[in-house]
Amino acid sequence: MIEKIITASGYIKQKVEDRGFRLPSLALVLGSGLGNFAEKTEKLLEISYSDIPGFPTSSVVGHKGKLVLSKVSGTGDTFWIMQGRVHFYEGYSMEEVVFPVRVLVKLGVKKLVVTNAAGGVNRNFSAGDLMIIRDHINFMGTNPLIGKNMDEFGTRFPDMSNAYSKKLGLILQKAALDESIVLKEGVYAGMTGPSFETPAEVRMVEKLGGDAVGMSTVPEVIVAKHSGIEVAGISFISNQAAGISPVPLTHEEVTENAVAVEEKFSRLMIRFVSMIVEGNDG
Ligand code: HPA
Repeated sequence: MIEKIITASGYIKQKVEDRGFRLPSLALVLGSGLGNFAEKTEKLLEISYSDIPGFPTSSVVGHKGKLVLSKVSGTGDTFWIMQGRVHFYEGYSMEEVVFPVRVLVKLGVKKLVVTNAAGGVNRNFSAGDLMIIRDHINFMGTNPLIGKNMDEFGTRFPDMSNAYSKKLGLILQKAALDESIVLKEGVYAGMTGPSFETPAEVRMVEKLGGDAVGMSTVPEVIVAKHSGIEVAGISFISNQAAGISPVPLTHEEVTENAVAVEEKFSRLMIRFVSMIVEGNDG
């Protein structure tokens, strides 16, 4: 596995250096329907996942499958955008799901922002809301760190008490305030999918302290935290979860609502990234 990570990161590093750019320390993973944020940035380099040795490629509609080196106009530093991710429910192993994050860590990323579309479990949430992930519950029944520990990345039993950085959360709040965007906050419950939850499962998640439910993010955050990097998470509430919503759920609803939230999400991200790359993050 480590050889595969070194090969993939070596390939990407070469591309960046050939063009005379520096390797960024910030990366953003854009989930379902949120990939368009990349179009609002100044793209310096785009690499298709299918060109990167060992990188898994996504089969889900709304996931583009590109690693983009970008810049916010007027700011100095660059950052990575992962336009799309792969999911456990696609049949990839946990090892494959987290492979891109491991490669980014190997490339020197120190801050990771993970985003996703999620169903709103908290009854105060509506479709179109953005939620800062304060913590997560792993309902996937497995863990990407199972197997021999990769000591070069982190310790066997990583602490998860501050998986989502308070500091990055505060910067997100500040960015939202500057943009007059209301952010909700809550706990993300990660399921395997691909079936949406039953109403009974949604009631279970609610009782156990989940505010939103989705099918990604948790494995990536576990691996990022294992590697000691700072993580921020944002869920775009694409729908009310099953049983809370009076209508059946569809993936089309998720992508349609993403279009509606795109503008708000992009403004938030541009402000946030400017604050981070300008070093205004204390
Ligand atoms: N459940 C799980 N994953 C999701 C949902 C949902 O309601 N909406 C978007 N992703």
